[in-house]
Amino acid sequence: MCGIVGYIGIEGKTVQVLVEGLKRLEYRGYDSSGIAILEKGHTKVIKSEGKLDNLLKKLSIHSFNGSLGIGHTRWATHGTPSERNAHPHVSGGTSVVHNGIIENYQELKNELKKKGYVFNSDTDTEVISHLIEDFSKNGSSFEDSVRGAFKLTEGSYAVAIVSEREPEKIIALRKFSPLIIALGQGENFIASDIPAVLPYSKRVIFLEDGDVAILEKDSFRITDLNGQEVKREVFSINWDPVAIEKGGYKHFMLKEIHDQPHAVLDTIRGRVSEESGDVYFEGLENIVKGVRRVVAIGCGTSYHSCLIGRYMIENIAHVSVDVDLASEIRYRDPIIDENTLVIAVSQSGETADTSEALLEMKKRGARTLSITNVPKSKIARESDAVIYTHAGPEIGVASTKAFTTQLIVFYLLSIYLGRHTGRLSDNEGRRFIHDSFRMPQLLEMALKLDEVIKGLAMEFYHYKNFLYLARGINYPIALEGALKLKEVSYIHAEGYAAGEMKHGPIALVDESMPVVIIAPRDGIVYKKVLNNLQEIRARRGKVILITSGDEADELNTQIDRLIKIPDSSYMLSPIIAVVPLQLFAYYIAVYKGTDADQPRNLAKVVTVE
Ligand code: G6P
Repeated sequence: MCGIVGYIGIEGKTVQVLVEGLKRLEYRGYDSSGIAILEKGHTKVIKSEGKLDNLLKKLSIHSFNGSLGIGHTRWATHGTPSERNAHPHVSGGTSVVHNGIIENYQELKNELKKKGYVFNSDTDTEVISHLIEDFSKNGSSFEDSVRGAFKLTEGSYAVAIVSEREPEKIIALRKFSPLIIALGQGENFIASDIPAVLPYSKRVIFLEDGDVAILEKDSFRITDLNGQEVKREVFSINWDPVAIEKGGYKHFMLKEIHDQPHAVLDTIRGRVSEESGDVYFEGLENIVKGVRRVVAIGCGTSYHSCLIGRYMIENIAHVSVDVDLASEIRYRDPIIDENTLVIAVSQSGETADTSEALLEMKKRGARTLSITNVPKSKIARESDAVIYTHAGPEIGVASTKAFTTQLIVFYLLSIYLGRHTGRLSDNEGRRFIHDSFRMPQLLEMALKLDEVIKGLAMEFYHYKNFLYLARGINYPIALEGALKLKEVSYIHAEGYAAGEMKHGPIALVDESMPVVIIAPRDGIVYKKVLNNLQEIRARRGKVILITSGDEADELNTQIDRLIKIPDSSYMLSPIIAVVPLQLFAYYIAVYKGTDADQPRNLAKVVTVE
């Protein structure tokens, strides 16, 4: 999704802050970019199609001295990816960058055209710059023009605006799209996400829907759309800027796969007591009291973690769980009451489908809990309680460490629920917690497969289709493995419940179809999945088996490749089993030459429905 950066402060520093910020937002996905700088009251705009490098080439032939400006990476919604449609959009002296969708833009456009405004792009955004310019021309101040314009718009937006008429201010607004401001000494910043400004400031304000922030270099104010001042808390962010860099790895995705032992440990740390068998989560007590049913929702990888969460909560806490895609549950008529706990899972905490579904479930009376990685994100703020995954910033578009930390949260939550409903004894609690402590080490062991998987990818990267099969708690891992491969390597892959193979997918199996089977030894469904393996072999399918335990070696003669993962408890096996699949997708992408960190057409934070 689009990225926004804004800067006001020191003369000559603006381009550097904007460009570096946009680079740190590249992970969100984009197809064009641009900046507008105010220099001695005049606007300079440079835009380019494609990657930021194209913009940098253009910027290198200019010199810039301005002390304020705005920058943008665009992910096309209205109008093709092109320089023409790239932001900023300028009308007279007003320049605007925008993330979101102005739903009534066509109506507004017709009105503005009647007034003589000429449109130079196919975007919905351009109506904003013309509208503000229209108010300004009629004598309103910059602030009032902005408020006036946004009172007329419907839809979602995160916006940054500069105006030649008042060149000592930047205005930022937010409604349904993420936007933060960060505070410095003699300089202030705007960004759609924390990493963009982290090297400059760790003091961050998360704008809320309807907020209008007016930044000058030494001060800031926040008002609502009527000009009434509002107070917002300043948060100190303790993320390490170095952690956001690639740390010697070729891609963020590979770094983040290798971050997992730490990320999982950080997510467990301080939340469990092996002595008492208890799990501690702040602010959860009231919302779990008397819960009869859980409904877990999410999108993409986060949806897969909900599917695994179901196995964990039902098995450990004996509470019934339904799982739904956030984008689907809104359009059903789910039975929700005050004893239903809706758990919204989202790495970014900003996914529009998940946030809208959460609000809808809340309206229907559910108690709500979110599991997210981003402090104070939209979904975190909208839910009654939140559990943060402590994965640190995840930059690679394909989710890896956010996924495994979500799984460990589901596991701890299952123990928490079990203990609070009295269904789990302290002894059982201790055993489950003990098992979780082994995870960082087991993940380290699984990551030692890196070289082996690289070799495997080399062997298999030219295949056109893959099938992933598993059963029980690892069935969603088959879905996740297939999703990872699709996302980063553009190879068609399907995840299937192994038991369903005979009901259809078996028709696809021949020597050109590699089948990845995930069957950790401890699994209660292990033997059954091995039967599927024989069925595939009988049809000359190529089998890659991911399993654990000593007996695995005996299978070696019956399959094409055996990947042995460390043994863990059954409930935690998905956290280990997914590692080779993440590495496999990554290395196949590398061999195919696709962009593992920013796969085509995908965005890290999807703030449109
Ligand atoms: C996008 C990303 C996926 C991610 C999904 C949900 O589609 O490309 O990798 O799983 O959004 O994101 P969330 O931030 O809600 O977990």
